[in-house]
Amino acid sequence: MRQFGKYKLAALLGGGVAVAGVAFAQPLGEGWLLGAPDDATRFELLEDDAGGTGRTMFEMSVRFERMYMAVVDGDLAIAARYWDSIEGALSRGLVRRPDRTETAEAIFLSVYDEVEAAFEGGNISEARTAFMTARAACMACHVANDLAEINEQRLFRANVFQ
Ligand code: HEC
Repeated sequence: MRQFGKYKLAALLGGGVAVAGVAFAQPLGEGWLLGAPDDATRFELLEDDAGGTGRTMFEMSVRFERMYMAVVDGDLAIAARYWDSIEGALSRGLVRRPDRTETAEAIFLSVYDEVEAAFEGGNISEARTAFMTARAACMACHVANDLAEINEQRLFRANVFQ
C-alpha cells in the first residue's frame, strides 16, 4: 500500500495512536523525522527512504553511463571519480543489504584496483579495456544473483567499447 505523506499503521501502533486500518496523516511543519511519533517510526522512515539494492543499482547505473561517456571523451580523471563513486554506492548498499556482500566482493570489488589503476594510468586503450572489465563484473553479478535478464537492456548494449 502506498501512503504518501502518511505514516504506516504498524509504526503508529507502537506510538499507541493508531486505529486499526487507518493511517494517520503526517503532521505538517514538524519535519518528516522530528514530527514522527517515536524513534521506531523514525528508523522505519529512514530505512524506507534509503531503499534496497534497486536504489543502489539506480545510483550505480547512472554513474556507469557517465563513466562510459568520460572514457569516450578521454577524460580519465572523471572516469576514475565515477568509478570511485560506484564503489561508494555499492559499499553503502551492502550495509543496507548485506546478503549481497559475497557476490559483490568476489565478482565486482575484486576488479576495483585493476580498473582504478587503468584510469589513473591515463592510457585510453587500457582505460577502454578497464571499462569493459567493470561492465563484465556488473553483468556477472547479475547472473550470479539469478538476474541474468537485467543484462538484456540498452544500458549494457549501448555502453561498450569494441
Ligand atoms: C552484488 C552484485 C551486483 C553488482 C556488482 C551489480 N549489480 Fe546490478 N543488480 C544486482 C541485483 C541483486 C539487482 C536487483 C535489484 C532489485 O531490484 O532488488 C540488480 C539490478 C540492477 C539493475 C536493474 C534495476 C534498476 O533499478 O535499474 C540495473 C540497471 C543494474 N543492476 C545495473 C548495474 C550496473 C551498471 C552495475 C555495475 C556498475 C551493477 N548493476 C553491478 C546485483 C548487482
